[in-house]
Amino acid sequence: MPEQPRTPYLDAVVGYAFRGPGRWHVPGHKGGSGADPGLLHAIGDRALLADVPQDIRGIDVGPSPTPYEQAEQLAAEAHGAARTWFLTNGATQGNHALTLALAPLGAQVVVQRNAHASVVDGLVLSGGVPTFVAPEYDEALGMAHGVTPDGLRAALERAGRDHVRAAFIVSPTYYGMVADVAACAEVAHDAGVPLIVDQAWGGHFGFHPDLPRSALQLGADAVLTSTHKMAGSMTQSAMLHVARDSRVDVAALGRAIRLVRSTSPNSLLLASLDASRRQMAVHGETILHDTLAALRAVHGRLKDIDGVALVGEEMVGRPGVAAWDPLRITLDVRGTGRTGFDVADALRQTYDIHPELATHAIVVLVVGLGEPAEALDRLVGDLDEVVRTIADPGGVVPVVKSPLHGATTAAVTPRDAFLGKAEVVDVDDAVGRISVESIAGYPPGIPALLPGEEITADAVRYLRELVADGARLHGASDPSFRRVTVLAR
Ligand SMILES: Cc1ncc(COP(=O)(O)O)c(C=O)c1O
Repeated sequence: MPEQPRTPYLDAVVGYAFRGPGRWHVPGHKGGSGADPGLLHAIGDRALLADVPQDIRGIDVGPSPTPYEQAEQLAAEAHGAARTWFLTNGATQGNHALTLALAPLGAQVVVQRNAHASVVDGLVLSGGVPTFVAPEYDEALGMAHGVTPDGLRAALERAGRDHVRAAFIVSPTYYGMVADVAACAEVAHDAGVPLIVDQAWGGHFGFHPDLPRSALQLGADAVLTSTHKMAGSMTQSAMLHVARDSRVDVAALGRAIRLVRSTSPNSLLLASLDASRRQMAVHGETILHDTLAALRAVHGRLKDIDGVALVGEEMVGRPGVAAWDPLRITLDVRGTGRTGFDVADALRQTYDIHPELATHAIVVLVVGLGEPAEALDRLVGDLDEVVRTIADPGGVVPVVKSPLHGATTAAVTPRDAFLGKAEVVDVDDAVGRISVESIAGYPPGIPALLPGEEITADAVRYLRELVADGARLHGASDPSFRRVTVLAR
């Protein structure tokens, strides 16, 4: 890829920002002169000077391809896509656009039940009708994996092959488990529908031979990467890729993206996408080589910590797990007699270490692209020490059984529920009613209740237990989960 060392958008922004142009346009901080001194001190005048608006000649206006268009083309080339869009409202924006384009009013789609909340929020916007496919579920660890090809096929049958428009799955999961995307693509294509893969957590996939292949390489029609999560761009920046020979209507998707896009996308976020693409395409393999070697070196030591087990490679081959992302350190801490919440708290309080996610059984630590060996080394030492201090050999860790593992069908469409006449009731009186809210325990941010779903006793129990254990309820109008909003009768 001879063009990959270029960063046309980053270079164009930098060229404009620092040549002293007459900035008689927004933003009103004017590159720093009008900015609050605290902000100026925090991020510096360079960031403020590079904060330029859309529609500057030589950046995203002028002869085509503009530097902006070139940057998206280079990203498409690096990911093996026909078309890539830069997103400045995260993978969330991508899911909104995908649902608007592929699940219009009344259209049937198959959706993995533990999809990110933004998929169902997208269905609220679009009016599409989901048939859910349950993820595989590890009861002992309380951990949802991906869907299986058979599960997807059954859901497509249930949705009615003649009506269904698309299948939405997630891979990898929060825990780094990768679904059998190639087989799922075959199943979706046999049913005549595109496979959409939310690869939010896998923006680095395909850039090193020891990492899982990317969903685009495995036959998905459209793939989201939340580039900021694992692939080095700034928070809130993401990409949406459409495959060559995709079954997705590129023009319709482009219109949908415009609908959910600000007319003032942040140039720093966009430039960071251009730069992270270059880093990944040009240096990714080398950087990852060193990081993976450093990780292998600490895996043995992690396994030696009493009561802690590394959850990863040995999962591969189980239903819903076809591969595994080594950049996730997923630890089963049940053997310590303490919960993942306890271990995460102790790491925070003792060493100011902040894990990505804790559940009853699990602690997940995200490893960066270029994680220094010393940082990994120190982490293992600190973890060993913390576990030794708090371990409770007689302790039994409860695992809260998630209600997500049974496939459900929304009783009412997400849109009708969300926009319908609502009332607030006590949670005790809510079983059997239709939820208007999307409520997810955070982390991991997977909704236990969706708009349009009948509220079950299981869902109530699960959310209550999460609150009791200190998890935050994302999307709940009452974070203490005493009251909940339901469709009025
Ligand atoms: C599977 C999945 N999809 C989408 C998103 C949303 O991504 P973003 O935060 O970039 O909007 C997340 C966020 O955690 C996620 O886990």
